[in-house]
Amino acid sequence: MKLTEELKRFPYPFKGDTYRYSNNSTLLTPPSSIEITEGYLKDIKLKRSLLSEHHSRCFQSLPHTNKAQWEVLELVMTNLASYFPESFSLKKEGRKHVFINHIVQEECEFIMGADSTLLNKPLDFIGRHVQEDLIIMMQKDGDLYLDAGQLCFPANWSLAFNHGMSFKNIHFPIPGFKEEGMDERILQFLLRLEAGNPWGRKNWSLMAGNRMDTSLETFDVWGKDRKNVTVENAGEFVHLRVEVQKLFRLPRSNAILFTIHTHLLPIDKLTEIPEWRRQFYQILVDLPSHIAEYKGISLYKDKVLAYIEKKEEGVL
Ligand code: HEM
Repeated sequence: MKLTEELKRFPYPFKGDTYRYSNNSTLLTPPSSIEITEGYLKDIKLKRSLLSEHHSRCFQSLPHTNKAQWEVLELVMTNLASYFPESFSLKKEGRKHVFINHIVQEECEFIMGADSTLLNKPLDFIGRHVQEDLIIMMQKDGDLYLDAGQLCFPANWSLAFNHGMSFKNIHFPIPGFKEEGMDERILQFLLRLEAGNPWGRKNWSLMAGNRMDTSLETFDVWGKDRKNVTVENAGEFVHLRVEVQKLFRLPRSNAILFTIHTHLLPIDKLTEIPEWRRQFYQILVDLPSHIAEYKGISLYKDKVLAYIEKKEEGVL
């Protein structure tokens, strides 16, 4: 079977035939904060239009995050120039820097650390050049706080609502997370993160439709699509939504950079690969109802299962 580039590069998230919440983070190789996919231009265009039309929904920052924001800008620019040298370059002459994005043909000259030399806040500036959403967690008194972020493609949450919240409070809505002590274990893991040793993980969900901006603020627009799934349209309409998430300790500010790269794949493409089809079906059958409910897939899970059964029988 010949796989398309899209399928070959898709960050398939499942291991084994069951899914439960766990700390599924692994050391990141290669240790790059950024990945570029064929959807780059489309994602960047969408990000920039969301930022210009709904700025406070997509960007928030507290003043004390300024140094960490510059650290993120430097890390991301350095990663871009070293992992994608044909698309990005960064030239340095003392504190003066010239960043070139050859894909969108933009050149920017600025002084590292000098706010007045950039058009936007440092995090807001660099986020406009990458597909990833970028979140800064500041560390204070043995806890982590979401004090800055550029978030255009949230999976049903709100940056404005979560701004300033602690790690445990952010994760409070997840069923069983607190009760099973996962919030504390993951917080301790994050507090131990070391500069130079980034970690990565994948999170997954299903969604009715292929919208990237599924913010809580726009739920009334996209949420009702969950009622429009049928056995016949599930293959094209329902998408597996995978977030590739990465965690970097920033050595100077001691903050953590959390990056989220969102990928969507329609179920008909996912189930073209027999092993993926079998495993994904098992995972959905076995998924505890509280997790299905939290992920927002209870309304149409059975239709997706029926679609896969028909495909297996060769009816679809
Ligand atoms: C440090 C930066 C992190 C931030 C800012 C963050 C943020 C979030 C947010 C906003 C949600 C949605 C909560 C809601 O329903 O309102 C979430 C869900 C979740 N987070 Fe995190 N998270 C972080 C790190 C982690 C890590 C390191 C793990 C695990 C190792 C983790 C595991 C989860 C899980 C399992 C969910 C539920 C996802 C689902 O079922 O779809 N998070 N996170």
